[in-house]
Amino acid sequence: MSTTRTQVAIVGAGPSGLLLGQLLFKAGIDAVIVERQSPAHVLSRIRAGVLEQVTMDLLDEAGVGQRMHREGLIHGGFDLLFKGARHRIDMNQLTRGKNVVVYGQTEVTRDLMDARQAQGLPTVYEADKVQVHDFDSAKPRVTYEKDGQTHAIACDFIAGCDGFHGVCRASAPPSAVKEYEKVYPFGWLGVLSDTPPVHHELIYVNSTRGFALCSQRSATRSRYYLQVPTTDTAAQWSDEAFWAELRLRLDPEACAHLVTGPSIEKSIAPLRSFVTEPMRFGRLFLAGDAAHIVPPTGAKGLNLAATDVKYLQAAFIEFYAEHSQAGIHAYSERCLRRVWRAERFSWWFTSLMHHFPENGEIGQKFQDAELDYLVHSEAGSLSLAENYVGLPLNFGE
Ligand code: APR
Ligand code: PHB
Repeated sequence: MSTTRTQVAIVGAGPSGLLLGQLLFKAGIDAVIVERQSPAHVLSRIRAGVLEQVTMDLLDEAGVGQRMHREGLIHGGFDLLFKGARHRIDMNQLTRGKNVVVYGQTEVTRDLMDARQAQGLPTVYEADKVQVHDFDSAKPRVTYEKDGQTHAIACDFIAGCDGFHGVCRASAPPSAVKEYEKVYPFGWLGVLSDTPPVHHELIYVNSTRGFALCSQRSATRSRYYLQVPTTDTAAQWSDEAFWAELRLRLDPEACAHLVTGPSIEKSIAPLRSFVTEPMRFGRLFLAGDAAHIVPPTGAKGLNLAATDVKYLQAAFIEFYAEHSQAGIHAYSERCLRRVWRAERFSWWFTSLMHHFPENGEIGQKFQDAELDYLVHSEAGSLSLAENYVGLPLNFGE
């Protein structure tokens, strides 16, 4: 078995692992990333695309923000459509100048990958049977198989950035883990198409036929979603059926502006709220989807992953530069406070915007009344806006 040595072994080369790798590189800390899939496979995943200011700042700090600033679309508001009428939430005005940027997660991943490659930093793709060992000691190890050979990485710390189905959370001692989970009784059917967006901002739709979202990737590429039963399959939905159903959930003005075309991607994603506590087990740290999942309403997933990773970088800097373990000990609690705030918001926004037949007609009336309150009360609008643009990195400290 060949053994290499590094300071931090990172499992997973999704946005969390890649951003951590980049932030550690900037801090002069060595890291190796081990990823189960190929680079092309990692880039084939299409996910949400709304970045908070805090995430933009971290991408800048990581030195990968140039294309995001060039190509990202700055949004100062979004529309809520309910009872057939649209109402704008002016985030920028409500939050005194804060915006979000619409820039696909796939592009964030590509920028991080390119930077890592340009700097010649080590990433092992298509690593088989990745395992994490001895993280309850001062000498943890990661092992994997590649081309029929077993390899080991000796390290000081392991960062579990391997997503919801990864090996790191599964390797924590079961008695030390508490998991919280809510699975929603519907999924999101997403379509990507090379058509101009229906509106210059996003439209979140509450309709008695179910939720819909009009999003975008650029002036010529749109992303749309429909709430569908979890039993549906993407293959069951022709492009024609998708556009026809979307029209039934939109207002007449949006229907008049909707440009349809062939889908270039179509898939169904389940909706889940999930949190693992704690997020550290000795020298094994969980970050991003490995530790928590939010339903996509409000697009908090990548933003939460980014702040986990920032707290982790700060903890490692304290350890190596200041010989202090304070950041390491505080990591889990620090992340979880922010995680639960975003979980609460994502659950609330999901509950407000989706159709829940089991709640009956009165459920729809409650949603209508809450939406009416939100758009006509400055306090209501501000609460939505300040959560949507995201919390500052050190909120409440
Ligand atoms: N060994 C090595 N790598 C693994 C293993 C394993 N056993 N299991 C999973 N991986 C890899 C996956 O192939 C994937 O590339 O870990 C990576 C995890 O990436 P993501 O699932 O994208 O998770 P994360 O990087 O935390 O990204 C968080 O992505 O899912 C969205 O909404 C989420 O936006 C958020 C962001
Ligand atoms: C997306 O563009 O994919 C998107 C945007 C906003 C959301 C969720 C997804 O709330």
